[in-house]
Amino acid sequence: MKRRLGPSDRLYPMPCPLVVGGTAEEADLLAVAWIGIAAGSPPSVSMALRDSRHTLGLIRRTGEFTVNVPRASQAAVVDYCGITSGRDVDKAAAAGLTLVPGAVVATPLVAECPYNLECRVTHEVDIGHYVLVVGEIVESHADEDILDTSGTKVDAGLLDPLVYIAGSREYRSLGPVVAEAFSIGRTIGAREPEQAR
Ligand SMILES: Cc1cc2nc3c(=O)[nH]c(=O)nc-3n(C[C@H](O)[C@H](O)[C@H](O)COP(=O)(O)O)c2cc1C
Repeated sequence: MKRRLGPSDRLYPMPCPLVVGGTAEEADLLAVAWIGIAAGSPPSVSMALRDSRHTLGLIRRTGEFTVNVPRASQAAVVDYCGITSGRDVDKAAAAGLTLVPGAVVATPLVAECPYNLECRVTHEVDIGHYVLVVGEIVESHADEDILDTSGTKVDAGLLDPLVYIAGSREYRSLGPVVAEAFSIGRTIGAREPEQAR
C-alpha cells in the first residue's frame, strides 16, 4: 500500500557540496543540498538558494561561483558552513578550510574538497522564497588520489562523497556498486518473454 505524504521537497539521496561566492579578497561559502546537474551541453549546474544567503550576494556581485564536493569524512565542516553565516564569522578560517585560486573564474576553490567545479551564472529564476541559480561549468578539478587508473575520470569510491538525507537530517556515504549503467538494462530485453514479465 502507498501512503500519500503531500507536496515534498525531498529526493533520495541529495549531494551536499560547499558553494563558494566572491573573490580572494572577500569570499563566503555555504552548504547546498538543493543542487544538481541541469544540463550536459553546455555542462550546467542548478541550485536553489534562499534570497537571504550572504553567499548569494557575493555570487551576484561577480556572476561566478564554485562547487566543492566534500568527502563523507568532512561532514562536520560542511554542517558548520550550513548553520553559520558569513555575515557573522569568517567560516573558511573558523572551519580550517583553505580557499585557493581556480583556473578560469575569480571565485576561489576549497582546497580540502577533492572535486571542484568552476561556474559562471547563466540564469536566475525566482521560485517562491528561493532563487534558482543556473551556472555553466567552465572548468573542473580533481585531486589525483580520487582518479581512476586512466587518470582522467573520478573514481566515486575513492572520492567517497558526502550524501545528505533531508527528511531524517542524516549525512551518509555511498553504498557499494550494484550494476553498470547503460548496460544492466539490456539484460531485460534479452530475457525470455515469460521471465521479463
Ligand atoms: C545540509 C544542509 C543543506 C543546505 N542546503 C541549502 C540549500 O540548498 N539552499 C540554501 O539556500 N541553503 C541551504 N542550507 C542553509 C545554508 O547553508 C545556511 O543558511 C548558511 O548558513 C548560509 O550561509 P551564508 O549566509 O554565509 O551564505 C543548507 C544547510 C545545511 C546544513
